[in-house]
Amino acid sequence: MKKTNQKKLEEFIRVDQAGERGAIKIYEGQLLALNTIINDEELKKKINEMKKHEEEHNNFFEDEIKKRNINPTKLLPLWDLLSLSLGFGSTILGKKAAMLCTASVEEVIDEHYKKQIDQIESDEKYLKNKIIKFREDELDHKKIAYEEGATKKGFYSFMDKIIKTGSKVAIRISEKI
Ligand SMILES: [Fe+2]
Ligand SMILES: [Fe+2]
Repeated sequence: MKKTNQKKLEEFIRVDQAGERGAIKIYEGQLLALNTIINDEELKKKINEMKKHEEEHNNFFEDEIKKRNINPTKLLPLWDLLSLSLGFGSTILGKKAAMLCTASVEEVIDEHYKKQIDQIESDEKYLKNKIIKFREDELDHKKIAYEEGATKKGFYSFMDKIIKTGSKVAIRISEKI
């Protein structure tokens, strides 16, 4: 049986846990805006549904971290702060920006999970199948985001680039520390 590179495996689990927690925090930031200055019950419902999936994803990776004795990223407090701000900030700009935020992040995560799936061998089938399933959930979130008005026109294309660059930097860092 082909074996997955152990060092890589640790990096995958560490960064995935950080990312899923970040996703929860983005949605918490969005809900904070929706519970204070923005009134949109429909959007709130959609976000709560997606947040539930992220909680399921995060719980899985948290368990893996414990089981395998992996060090979680040391930067969680920073990612929490940045994710909350991103969620809150995008939502006060309006529904299009809030949904673009989800679309942009999910597009990065789609690629990110795809790369991992390609590198996980059959000795880690359970993990691999989980990531395959989570990736499908993320693609659903992306679809919802576009259905709900995410766009990359004009100013939003600039926002998309910023969010994508930020997410990629966070991924690179969280793999390592
Ligand atoms: Fe997720
Ligand atoms: Fe998601």
